[in-house]
Amino acid sequence: MTEAPAGAERVLRELEPSVERLLERHLAAARDWLPHQYVPWSAAQDYDGPLRGTAWTPDQSALPQPVRDALVVNLLTEDNLPSYHFEIATRFGRDGAWGTWVHRWTAEEDRHASALRAYVHARRAVDPVSLEELRMAHVATGHHTGLPTLVHTLAYVTVQELATRQAHRNAGAACGDPAGEQLMARIAADENLHMLFYRGLLADALALFPDTVLTALADVLDGFTMPGAAIPGFRARAARIAAAGIYDLNVHLEHVVAPLLRTLKVMSAPGLGPAGRQAQERLGVHVEQLTARAARARELFARMNAGTLSTA
Ligand SMILES: [Fe+2]
Ligand SMILES: [Fe+2]
Repeated sequence: MTEAPAGAERVLRELEPSVERLLERHLAAARDWLPHQYVPWSAAQDYDGPLRGTAWTPDQSALPQPVRDALVVNLLTEDNLPSYHFEIATRFGRDGAWGTWVHRWTAEEDRHASALRAYVHARRAVDPVSLEELRMAHVATGHHTGLPTLVHTLAYVTVQELATRQAHRNAGAACGDPAGEQLMARIAADENLHMLFYRGLLADALALFPDTVLTALADVLDGFTMPGAAIPGFRARAARIAAAGIYDLNVHLEHVVAPLLRTLKVMSAPGLGPAGRQAQERLGVHVEQLTARAARARELFARMNAGTLSTA
């Protein structure tokens, strides 16, 4: 039987009990934390300007270049929270359990940019002038997902929270600074709980509207870009971040795409019509192609790191 594409109103109504249940689970699991306790204030000193301190110079940063790149990308991505809030508030609404989630999620996310920025400034990890210029440009551009339906948004945020968790966790692990690692692990733990909320919702949606959900998931994974992709100079930074193994196609495949598809059991989803079966096929092809691209990238980075890459 062919399933009619599920409209937004119906999806909101039928998933409301799931939102209530998952919100309760989230609130029981979430641990409050205090951003100011994670910033190494004793390492900080005044900057030039009104306080007549010391201007930033590149030699002040002890962090490896790819970690600086990751911090800039991750921080600017978090900075665009007003755009993401707009996206989910207009999709999910501000009423009932959906509205409670939208506001609670926004309050939690708001810690991430403020804590990361304080850390970066205290450690003099990156150029603060360039960072502020980039923030102005990036936030003034806003983030437009262009996703066609509510279910596409649900699929996107599930993938994105998982990807962001890995990006923060791996940047922290590579930074060589216990204070930085601790902060980024803390942020990654928040992203993990956000992912669990959305993945739970997507699983319930899959049981209710299998064709609609699989189609949206295939669309989202095929065209997935990180929300920070619009940052000026993103490609060069992303290449250095990938070469250092902080976030590359292998991380994307092994820690984001494969576990998500496995947990949702998309390849054995019951009750599919022609649209769902076609989406399932597209997901299979996507994983195959991603696996091949990830293997090529791994080989390329191994040769680069060994210094044997031919430039011919
Ligand atoms: Fe975040
Ligand atoms: Fe998050």
